[in-house]
Amino acid sequence: MIRVDDSKALQNRTDLTAELSQAHEWLQKATGKGSDFVGWVNLPQDYDKEEFQRIQKAAKKIQSDSKALVVIGIGGSYLGAKGAIDFLCSSNYNLKKKDTPNIYFVGCGLSADYLQEIMDLIDGQDFSVNVISKSGTTTEPAVAFRFFKAKLEEKYGKAEAAKRIYATTDKARGALKSLSDAEGYETFVVPDNVGGRYSVLTAVGLLPIAVAGVDIEALMDGAKEMMETCRRASLDENPAWRYAAARTQLYREGKKIEILAAYEPAFRFMTEWWKQLYGESEGKENKGIFPASVEFTADLHSMGQYIQQGERHLFETVVRFGKSASDLKVPFDAADGDGLNFLAGKDMDYIAAQAMDGTLLAHVEGGVPNLIVSVGEKNAHTLGELVYFFEYACGLSGYLLGVNPFDQPGVEAYKKNMFALLGKPGYEDMGAALREKLGR
Ligand code: PA5
Repeated sequence: MIRVDDSKALQNRTDLTAELSQAHEWLQKATGKGSDFVGWVNLPQDYDKEEFQRIQKAAKKIQSDSKALVVIGIGGSYLGAKGAIDFLCSSNYNLKKKDTPNIYFVGCGLSADYLQEIMDLIDGQDFSVNVISKSGTTTEPAVAFRFFKAKLEEKYGKAEAAKRIYATTDKARGALKSLSDAEGYETFVVPDNVGGRYSVLTAVGLLPIAVAGVDIEALMDGAKEMMETCRRASLDENPAWRYAAARTQLYREGKKIEILAAYEPAFRFMTEWWKQLYGESEGKENKGIFPASVEFTADLHSMGQYIQQGERHLFETVVRFGKSASDLKVPFDAADGDGLNFLAGKDMDYIAAQAMDGTLLAHVEGGVPNLIVSVGEKNAHTLGELVYFFEYACGLSGYLLGVNPFDQPGVEAYKKNMFALLGKPGYEDMGAALREKLGR
């Protein structure tokens, strides 16, 4: 169960019940802005069970015939899987001794050195590819796919390579779907009514996550439990209501930046996923909270200064997890050169909890409101709950802000410029104008 504590964030609560009720109805009845993209609202219950079994089967095959899985995707077709695998398996997943394949993410940028490095790392190993693109035409993953498709075909021949390529894309349209049908790749679907940043609980996230050995049934169960909780139209019974209400109130009071903080290094990429979810959903029409993130306690030694004493336009949302799986106690040291023997025998979780409370009080006293999101132990069920909680609160928050939380018109601007500068047919005039602006 997720709990949101706003007592260290708000002096007095503004009553947003009427606005929340409206936003809630828009999500539940699919009648608000962007309603073609609210398929994620009932997804944990309505997902395609046959496809889910195929995902599990494909994951087992990849585990049995591959030492590496190359996952190709960007944005919503990347961050959820990366975040979940780091969080549930370790941010050192590829370095660990394990029975599951290493997982490499590519197509999430345009660095030649990065691409080459991954090709070198998997050289000589049996590998498979999961190419993920809803549109099928996104430049970064499409370019990366060319390299890894060629590498697979060179290693195994075209027919065997086709059996090692898994494409996650639109069910009927797009370049990737056409190619997959022509070449005979196994395909999985990004549902029409689920946008990229809300797609981690579809095949987009589930296949790579399952390959890493995560119990994806537990993930979906956690999401379903939170979906049921989020159906309640109540500030006291629905944590997403409380979170959306608090962050909206803080924004209206001038807190324009939200920092998502966790005391868990493995959660770092989930904060990247969260940043896309909120940034792309809310940052439009010259409005929106800027989503930032920190990893504590590491960043207390870098960003801590700004948070404590910089401009007061920030609030923090701290995700707190239950007990760690590792039971570590601080060793006694006879010399006690660091003067820390008063901690000897103390549990690391206990020490971290004191750091959290100390930081909370310091930041609140420094003028940074703190919202606390308490979740369960670090496991797949908890992550499923957390993903759905953040998604639902994001939909609510976007509607409270007055924007369409499900489009991303601004993402196109850089793509058009890039195509024009690269000389894509049809963009010639624009390319000339841009080169002039750049003084080339
Ligand atoms: O949220 C989004 O829609 C984007 O981040 C997309 O997921 C991203 O641009 C990748 O798009 P596609 O899956 O079509 O390649």
